[in-house]
Parts: sequence; C-alpha cells; structure tokens
Amino acid sequence: MSNVELSLTCPEDAYVKRRAALASKIKRPMVVFSGHALARSYATNMHPFRAESCYLYFGGPSLEHAAILIEPGSNGRDGCTWFRTPPGPDDPLWLGPTPSDATCAAAMGIDVSQIGDYEALATATSGGDVSCVTPPHPDTLALACKLKLSKPTDEESLAIIDLRLVKDEPELTAMRFAAQAGVAGHIAAMRAAQIGHSETDIQAALISELVRHNCRESFSPICTIRGEVLHGECAGRKLEKGSLMLVDAGAEETGGYTSDMTRAYPAGGEWTSIQRHLYETALRAERAAIDACVPGKRYLDIHRLAAQIICEGLVDADLLKGEPADLTERGVYGLFFPHGVGHLIGMGVHDLEEFGDLAGYPAGRTRPERFGDCFLRLDRDLEPGMVVTIEPGIYFVPSIWERDALVKPFADAINRSAVDALLKDQFGGIRIEEDVAVREASAGGPEVLTAALPNDPDEVSKITQSAA
Ligand code: GLY
Ligand code: MN
Ligand code: MN
Repeated sequence: MSNVELSLTCPEDAYVKRRAALASKIKRPMVVFSGHALARSYATNMHPFRAESCYLYFGGPSLEHAAILIEPGSNGRDGCTWFRTPPGPDDPLWLGPTPSDATCAAAMGIDVSQIGDYEALATATSGGDVSCVTPPHPDTLALACKLKLSKPTDEESLAIIDLRLVKDEPELTAMRFAAQAGVAGHIAAMRAAQIGHSETDIQAALISELVRHNCRESFSPICTIRGEVLHGECAGRKLEKGSLMLVDAGAEETGGYTSDMTRAYPAGGEWTSIQRHLYETALRAERAAIDACVPGKRYLDIHRLAAQIICEGLVDADLLKGEPADLTERGVYGLFFPHGVGHLIGMGVHDLEEFGDLAGYPAGRTRPERFGDCFLRLDRDLEPGMVVTIEPGIYFVPSIWERDALVKPFADAINRSAVDALLKDQFGGIRIEEDVAVREASAGGPEVLTAALPNDPDEVSKITQSAA
C-alpha cells in the first residue's frame, strides 16, 4: 500500500452531492467509465490520458480503466461503487506508485469497502438492466459491449446534463484557476508577437505558461496569422508588418476544468486603421453580448445581438450597405461571422458536447439551418451557474466568397470591391473570446472569468510593445 497523495479538484462532499442528485433521477444503475489512454504509433507510446468528463464530475480519480457505478436512490456514498484496475507488478517500475484505495475512497467520499476491480464490476452488472457512459475509447467500448451495458436513454443523459449545466462553487473555483493559467499563456503570447517571430514562437511562449501552471492545453491552440481558418493550426509562418495574429487557446487543470479565450492583435502592436475598426466592432459586440448574459436570456438572442453590432461596424466600414437591423434579419452577417457566438464551457472546452445537441438545445428547440446560425452550439435560456463563452468574430474567408449560393442572395447589400480588396490583402480574422459565468444581478451580474486578459486594443498593443 502506497502513501501517494491524491488531490481531486473538488472536495469529497461535492462529489457525494452530485452522485446523490443523479441517483435521485435514474431508474436503473449507471456505470460511468474513465476510459484509457490512446496509442500513438505503437501500443506503449501513448497520448496523455484524459479521463472522461462525467467520470471526473462524479469524483473518479484520474486513472485508466476505472468506473463508478451509481445505483438509483443512492445517497451518494452507499450504493456507489468504484471499480479500478490494480497496478500490474511492473507498473510501479515504469509509472511509479499510485494512490492507495483508502486515499482514493476518502477523496471520492465513499467507503473503502465500496471498491472493486473489473471482475467485481462484471458481477455487479451481470444479468441486470444497466446503462453506461463511455468515452469513445476502444477498450472501454468493447468492455461495455461485453458486459451488455446499454447506452443511456435521452432521459438519463438529461439527468447528467441538467446537473453539469449549472456549475457549483468548487467547479467555478477550478474554472477561475484555468482562466488564470490561460491568461498567463496569452500574455506570454502577446509579448512574443514581434515582427520577425514565427507563429511557433508564440505558441511555445503560450504553452510554457500553461505547463508552469500544471495545466495542459484545453484544445490544440490556434496560433496563426491566418485567423480566417476557424480551427487553423500553427504553421510556423513569420509575422510581418501588418500581420494580424489570432490566438485562441485555453488551459485545462488536472480535474478537467477548462478555459477558452481568444485575442487578435497586430504583429509588433501596431494596428492598421481597418484592423482597428473591425477589432473595435468585435469588441463592442463582445461587451454587449457579455452584458446580455443574464438569467432568462435566450442564447440565440445573444448571438443575434452580437451579429447586429457586427453588421453596424461593417456598414460603418463601407463593407455592407443598408440598415443593420435589416441586414441582421436577412442573415448577411454569416458571410463575415459564420460561427456561433459561443458555447457551454466547463469540464472540456465545449462542455457536454459529448451529448451532442441534447445538451446545447432544450426540448422544442433545434439548431437553426441558416448559414451564420447553423454552427451555434447552444440555444438555451441562461441560468445562474451556467458558464458560456462569448466569442464574436469578423473574418475574410476566401472559401465563403467563392460560394455563390451563400453570397448571391446578398449582392445588393455587399460592397464587393471593398471585400475583395481585403481578401486580396489576406486580412485574416478577428475573434475576441471570454468565458462568462451567469449570475443574478444581485450577485454581481455576469462574471467574466477571463477578465484579467486585456482586450482593449491599446492595452493589448502595450503588452506586445513592452516586450520589443
Ligand atoms: N477554439 C474552439 C472554440 O473557441 O470554441
Ligand atoms: Mn476558443
Ligand atoms: Mn470557444
């Protein structure tokens, strides 16, 4: 038995409460698996392990090939069993010691007698009607199949979604920490954004701060001067005078809680007038959308609010013609702002996306079909404790402007020669992204978890220029 310490992100009573809350809503036992690390080029060269989010949420220590069984009616302690795969004889040699069962049980808020191995899991589930949540990991899927566990019904998935949608205080604390780590990464990136440096220099500066905070990347960082490629990768391009850098990156702390933030800024800190105009437009949209993150507000309306402010800025810049409200109604913004205004964030950067639109769209609402709205990942009415990103952007994407079906219906509203000039100049893209916790006005209104990262264009320039 080892004395290795284990520090889970949340206190044990938070996990007990969550398991009891789920147990009160389900009618058959549920197994929540941790999953396992995926192999890279050969079986013992693995990608880093990341346990499945629901497993972490219900208190599972971050170990491969483990699972929590939650019985209906459990009080969160009795009726909850943790199954783990004991280390093999050579594991301590290669991987070091692991926390003892007693240490894990204490951190999870279960009795040590409620721990078993996968054989005990097979016994506990044999012949019964049991559901399971699995990450898409081959060995775990095979095991779930062998044990004849069922996929959760929508009702069972919604029982989990309803819980995870609203963050408790320990979760918010973890997200504030992930935000702090992300802010440090972004400041380092801004300082590295000098003319002559490359995208990889900026990415390296960013990641080193995440690591210093004992975090990993919450997704593959986007560090690029081709910001119009929405999920583009850093390609090592050199920054030149006039290049517009877009950095979208966040941190994930050890329990899986994340941040996700974006800034766009010019190489060397010197904005061109059109860059600055469009940046200020995106910033106005950002601020108005954040102010609208209040309980009861429909997220689609926040998306449209941001879209209308973007239309106003595009009219001011002589890129669009017409009344911003009409242009918004017609959906012209999709040509410049094709993605949604944001998504849920929490454990995993697109929180709950493993449940598809069941998480983002409540009963009676479906994803809009129109270009400019169809990539919106969320359309719930906001509630206190939900955390969302707000990430409006303005892009000049050649592949959009090559699609007649998208562009032609708006020919009367577009100043095509002005758009073409920016496409020719490879303007790129602007996005500003903050993580926002919804709170009642009496509790202070929306809390911007990422507020420590400046988004004012002069302040951002100052950070870059101070490092020159
Ligand atoms: N880069 C992923 C996102 O911001 O949603
Ligand atoms: Mn992002
Ligand atoms: Mn995001």
